[in-house]
Amino acid sequence: MLLTNVIYFVACNNGVNSEAKSMDTTRSTNDSGYTKPGITEKAFGNYDGQEVKEFTITNASGSQVSILNYGGTVTKLLVPDRNGTMGDVVLGFDSFEGYLQKNDPYFGSLVGRYANRIANAKFTLDGKTYTLAGNNNGNSLHGGNKGFDKVIWTAEKLGDNSLKLTYQSKDGEEGYPGNLTAQVVYTLDSDNSFKLDYTATTDKATPVNLTSHCYFNLSAGRDSTILNHQLQIDADRYTPVDEKLIPTGKIANVRGTPMDFTSPKLIGRDISSVKGGFDHNWVLNKQGNALEKVVSLYDSTSGRLMEVFTTEPGMQFYSGNFLDGSLQYTKNGQKYIKHGALCLEAQHFPDSPNEPSFPNVILKPGETYRHTTVYKFSTK
Ligand code: GLA
Repeated sequence: MLLTNVIYFVACNNGVNSEAKSMDTTRSTNDSGYTKPGITEKAFGNYDGQEVKEFTITNASGSQVSILNYGGTVTKLLVPDRNGTMGDVVLGFDSFEGYLQKNDPYFGSLVGRYANRIANAKFTLDGKTYTLAGNNNGNSLHGGNKGFDKVIWTAEKLGDNSLKLTYQSKDGEEGYPGNLTAQVVYTLDSDNSFKLDYTATTDKATPVNLTSHCYFNLSAGRDSTILNHQLQIDADRYTPVDEKLIPTGKIANVRGTPMDFTSPKLIGRDISSVKGGFDHNWVLNKQGNALEKVVSLYDSTSGRLMEVFTTEPGMQFYSGNFLDGSLQYTKNGQKYIKHGALCLEAQHFPDSPNEPSFPNVILKPGETYRHTTVYKFSTK
């Protein structure tokens, strides 16, 4: 076996492109391209008096994902293009300062206790009204002022390709009832499947909706937007929203509208006819909670294909509408402009605690919340 210290040189183009990244890991690679799988860790910063660590999982084909114990944040995801060149397909920041800057748009975050919006930052459960932080136009977004994306999780390595993160959320934290124990196991399989297995238990009834807020651009810096990515979502319906992005409670058909992604379609094709861009929840056609393929995303410049499998009933497709190139810190000197990346957030529907017709999001004592989502990478 040949021991190689792998360095990828940064190939810059207009200060934007960076297909190849400099990496700090030592890998064992043999002539057939086999890399010894494993998990490394390094110090990344300090937060609330605790050490922030970055864990990097490397699989047998040399793909890598890096995750912080702060907010379960995915900082890097390196997968090959059609020529076998590794590229980082998620937005993020070079250093911890980036994750603390004002207006960090939840890059790579684990979102909870309730991902997405709750109208008027209020919900009623068992006759009691709970008030949350109105951190988004008077609505509650992504768990409030200090959601699961802004706390330190306890990290544990499992074998050579999984990382388990655990967080104990206190009764009353951000206004939510019940002590909630949340766990997320991140796995990078040898077939380049990046899997998140979520579980949670509580001692009082509470709404729970956990998701991952990775911003993907499959070109890994070759294309500054995702408008030329081709997207397919296996959903005939979506949940229309009001001007503050709160579902109206109706479920509408996508046919004949810009929301129709039932066949592969370039994201840029109809985006200008959707006010503000895509930021909606698609009602997946799948029935029940089996793990099924629901999304395909393809970038023809790199040949990268990402397929999303989930157990969840909904998919928020957000086309990076609020990115505007103004973030002070980024990665590799890139500028993160409008539509520079997209999120595919597997979840329950927004505002479900206030919409009795939507699938249930209330977790009760004695029950276990379970959610699995897989982002599988290949090329064509
Ligand atoms: C989400 C929301 C968007 C936006 C981003 C964060 O996915 O749906 O409206 O708030 O998070 O910027």
